[in-house]
Amino acid sequence: MTDLPKPLVAGNWKMNGLKAALCEVDALEEKIASHLNLKCDLMICPPATLLCSATIAAKKVEIGAQNVHAAFSGAHTGDISTEMLTDIGVTAVILGHSERRADHGEKSAQVAEKVAAAQRAGLLAIVCVGETKEEREAGQALNVVSRQIADSIPIEGSNADNIVVAYEPVWAIGTGLTPSVNDVAEMHHSIRDLLKGMFERDGDKMRILYGGSVKGSNAAELMGVDNVNGALVGGASLKADDFFAIVEAAYL
Ligand code: PGA
Repeated sequence: MTDLPKPLVAGNWKMNGLKAALCEVDALEEKIASHLNLKCDLMICPPATLLCSATIAAKKVEIGAQNVHAAFSGAHTGDISTEMLTDIGVTAVILGHSERRADHGEKSAQVAEKVAAAQRAGLLAIVCVGETKEEREAGQALNVVSRQIADSIPIEGSNADNIVVAYEPVWAIGTGLTPSVNDVAEMHHSIRDLLKGMFERDGDKMRILYGGSVKGSNAAELMGVDNVNGALVGGASLKADDFFAIVEAAYL
């Protein structure tokens, strides 16, 4: 593998956090300031209500959103466009998270439209894929993930600078369960092959994050797996201490 960008550790706060939670962004900045040799990029994706203040509080930490509408503007009550995000200094957006696929029936084709919108605005798209427990038990994990990647990431316009893939087995999210190191290695290797097939040299450089119950105590092992280029972290990203424990374990 050549020229891979720095690994990325991104925190997904989901629907958590009032204004007071912004002190966690400040605390993270303080930790970064005293560790100048970090071997990864850091990102926090707070709820939409905190995005604007978070971009003001953040210096080194990137700020990402958790969803977006594909249109530039228009009659879409309650939605936010990619241009609105870049306007306030947001640099990335999580797309196709399994909770959006489950709670809002989001399909890969819609995710692909949002990815294209992210590219239009110059946002990094973190595209989430992953199988359910039933799909894994049926031996379908690789098929499901391959299909999601092929259908969620448009060939045109996608490259290693604007796409990050996050492999998040649905059964590992928020459960404390993680796949075995071998299973992670196998899936990430297959995703790498698929990305190389789709994007040639860029596919070799796209970061592939692992997500699902990542914490300080398992980060070194999971982040040490070949083709794991960072983490997407839910629960353990809410407190700067827990989040930074992941960074300390894997990327100091
Ligand atoms: P978790 O969530 O770390 O709480 O398992 C991960 C995610 O949904 O991105």
